[in-house]
This record gives sequence, C-alpha cells and structure tokens, in this order.
Amino acid sequence: MTKQIAIISGSLRKASYSTRLAKVLAGLFPSGYNTELINIGDLPLYNQDYDTEGNPPEFYTSFREQIADKDAVVFVTPEYNRSVPAALKNALDVGSRPFGHSVWNGKPALVVSNSPGNLGGFGANHHLRQTLTLLNMPTVQQPEAYIGNVVNFLGENDDPSPDNKVYLQSLVNAFTGLVEQTAGKN
Ligand SMILES: Cc1cc2nc3c(=O)[nH]c(=O)nc-3n(C[C@H](O)[C@H](O)[C@H](O)COP(=O)(O)O)c2cc1C
Repeated sequence: MTKQIAIISGSLRKASYSTRLAKVLAGLFPSGYNTELINIGDLPLYNQDYDTEGNPPEFYTSFREQIADKDAVVFVTPEYNRSVPAALKNALDVGSRPFGHSVWNGKPALVVSNSPGNLGGFGANHHLRQTLTLLNMPTVQQPEAYIGNVVNFLGENDDPSPDNKVYLQSLVNAFTGLVEQTAGKN
C-alpha cells in the first residue's frame, strides 16, 4: 500500500527556504510514497479549554485528521532564537491533545533544520527532537540534517547541486528505511 507522508514546514513565510527545501525533498521520494505539505499557519494558538469543553476549532480537527491519516512525518524547520518557530511548536501541541489521543504517537519522523547562517539550525533541530521523544516518534538519527547556508544549498530555481541532491536523497532513504521498519507496529 502507498505510504502517506506528511511534510511540515516550520515557516509561514511565502518565500520560505524551509518550504522550498520541503518541496525539493518531496520530489526525492520513491514510488510507493505519497507526500502532502501540511499547512500549520491557520491553527489558533493551543488552548486546552477548547478540548476540555469539547468544542475544538475547525482547524484543530482538520489538522488532526490530516496527520492521523499519515504513516510518517517530515519536519523541515528554520531556527528562531535557537529553538523551533512558535508556529511549529503550536502544531505539535495541537496534534498532541486531547490527552491520550495524540495523532503523532508512533509515527516515524525526519528532522531537517536549515538556516541562511552557518549553524544550520542546530538548536531548533535538537529542541524539536526533545519534543518528538515525548511524542513517541521514532526519529532518523543518522544522517543528521543541519543545512547551513541554505540559500547556496538550494541553488537557483531550487535545483541543488548533484552533491547536495545525493545528500538529500540519503536523508530520504534513511527515512523510508525507518518507515518500512516501523510499518505495522503502531
Ligand atoms: C524571530 C526570528 C528569529 C531568528 N533566529 C535565528 C536563529 O536563532 N538562528 C538562525 O540561524 N537564524 C535565525 N533567524 C533567521 C532565519 O534563519 C531566517 O529568517 C530564515 O530565512 C527563516 O526561515 P524561512 O526562510 O524558512 O522562513 C531568525 C529569524 C527570525 C524571524
């Protein structure tokens, strides 16, 4: 059966490098995989009252359904002040509740951080990994993905150099390997 992969960009910006990188990664999946870029920009800030009162916003429900339908999740994120952007943390929080009904539970994950700077979003990458541990998402350990100087990395027209494509393909291959390993165990 075709595996369904959610791809989440941590940036809401129209010209986001993260979203551009996410689209390049989507194009590297083999046959048997279907990818969908999931919008997190319309999710209201998480407020537990919505769930306690049994009246969650429409966007919470549709987002939770979209993730629940997927087999695995790719996160492509910039770094904001050495952590993940609030929009991404909010999406993780929304999907994690109501308690006991987290849509993330058991889904394999790939974390790709990036930055126009040299450090490649290392801080965001590891803050995200900390949360994914609690959410019980088995996450690709190697190769790690801290993509620095992302402007050059993407190249013109989002067509990375052959070497950079080989590297991105190695990320996708490690991820699909983990997805295959985990299949049927959730
Ligand atoms: C609020 C804010 C905080 C930022 N903090 C960092 C940071 O800690 N480390 C870093 O490498 N870049 C930082 N940047 C720069 C971002 O890496 C840069 O704006 C990047 O293009 C954002 O990702 P995007 O292109 O996917 O939107 C920050 C940008 C903003 C708006």
